[in-house]
Amino acid sequence: MDFRDLRNRTFKGFLAEEEAARLYDLAREASSLGACLEIGSYCGLSAAYLGLGCREGGGVLYSIDHHRGSEEQQPGEAYFDPDLLDSRTGRIDTFPLFRRTLEELSLDGTVIPIVGRSAEIAAHWRSPLALVFIDGGHTFEAAFNDYNSWVSHLIPGGCLAIHDLFPDPAKGGQAPWCVYNLALASGLFEALPTTGTLGILRRAPCGTITATAAAAWEKIRP
Ligand SMILES: C[S@@+](CC[C@H](N)C(=O)[O-])C[C@H]1O[C@@H](n2cnc3c(N)ncnc32)[C@H](O)[C@@H]1O
Repeated sequence: MDFRDLRNRTFKGFLAEEEAARLYDLAREASSLGACLEIGSYCGLSAAYLGLGCREGGGVLYSIDHHRGSEEQQPGEAYFDPDLLDSRTGRIDTFPLFRRTLEELSLDGTVIPIVGRSAEIAAHWRSPLALVFIDGGHTFEAAFNDYNSWVSHLIPGGCLAIHDLFPDPAKGGQAPWCVYNLALASGLFEALPTTGTLGILRRAPCGTITATAAAAWEKIRP
């Protein structure tokens, strides 16, 4: 299936069309360097595009979610969806829809679901990654934990993608934007063009110096 065919299908999720297409391109490129990983599977919208990109590039996507929904997706909150309530437990459960998305797109084997909390999984993770896409919890604690938990696994030349960047606080929550800027300030990343609210940072390839690092050295060099 061509990723453009996905536009005619409806999956629950939070991704603009141009952002989805960029994720597809990123995954296709990155998967020739190593495995890709996302935090925040939800019902599989981003995993569909990332997964098709990985399949095209001959790689895999690990997709992490506890499938109980973020704070803003709980009953009574702004992004609550009653279709996702499990009548047996009275709790959100996005895993059945996520699994259906993978089945419909024949992505089993390319997208590997991991059901659990991001930081707990990261604590035992040992494999290098070529792409990390952060779209889990949107509180500062959650976004910072995802960044801190996964950034050390990103190979030089790999990409860190962060969703929901809102430089203007009137337009949206500030936690992903803050984490994006912390990563940039580390001197380890170059910013690639942003697509919609999707920020992309490339970790400096081995043997290269980022503009931020060079500027920091310029300020204090003798
Ligand atoms: C904004 S939604 C992801 C949207 C999805 N990427 C898409 O394209 O539609 C955030 C998801 O992150 C999950 N989540 C929040 N905090 C998490 C954590 N600490 N560990 C794992 N998953 C988490 C929630 O369950 C929710 O499904």
